[in-house]
Amino acid sequence: MQGVGWLSRRTVLANSAMLSLVGTACAEEREQPSAGVGKTLIAYLTRSGNTRVIAGTLQRTLGADLFEIRPARPYPDDYEQHVAQATSERDSGYEPPLAAKVDNIAAYGTVFLGFPIWGETAPPPIRSFLKAHDLSGKTLRPFITHGGYGVGGSLAVLATHATGATIEEAFVMEADQERRTLNQVRDWLGQINS
Ligand SMILES: Cc1cc2nc3c(=O)[nH]c(=O)nc-3n(C[C@H](O)[C@H](O)[C@H](O)COP(=O)(O)O)c2cc1C
Repeated sequence: MQGVGWLSRRTVLANSAMLSLVGTACAEEREQPSAGVGKTLIAYLTRSGNTRVIAGTLQRTLGADLFEIRPARPYPDDYEQHVAQATSERDSGYEPPLAAKVDNIAAYGTVFLGFPIWGETAPPPIRSFLKAHDLSGKTLRPFITHGGYGVGGSLAVLATHATGATIEEAFVMEADQERRTLNQVRDWLGQINS
């Protein structure tokens, strides 16, 4: 099921249970975060800042390089307009041009790739990023934030777009949803204006 309604809670719980099992199976094989040849890059996309907090923590802890993935044409500031645009880009498979590319991606052996879930999947600029950078032979460590509905189809997007990379188990975190904040602020304004 796709759409702004997102996944049903039951589907999310089933997916979470599967992810936990996968996590258990892989735990003994886990490598050190920066194992391998080359430097470490933290590349991330954010709208409201949740994913940036994780990216900054990783960057400071690992002493890695930091790169913010930005589309050449910024998304609307208005949340609902942003959701509408992201939904239409997802449905048409559009890959928006990026404002910049990573300098010398070949120098990196490990790429931590962070993004929020948009419309049950990876945001369109993440597909653009993976199309624009050759990650084959590199270790890809995803970190994903969502508003309570899980990772949706994002892991499948990584598998199809980061061909040749070794994709490690994703770090997944539920984080604040801008919609919830907006609704609470609207309620508050409704009270003080009535
Ligand atoms: C366009 C858009 C679509 C979203 N779609 C989903 C979704 O399908 N499922 C979900 O759990 N959260 C969804 N969210 C909420 C974000 O994934 C969540 O709040 C995330 O932590 C935001 O990260 P950021 O602060 O780095 O932008 C959506 C947010 C936006 C802006």
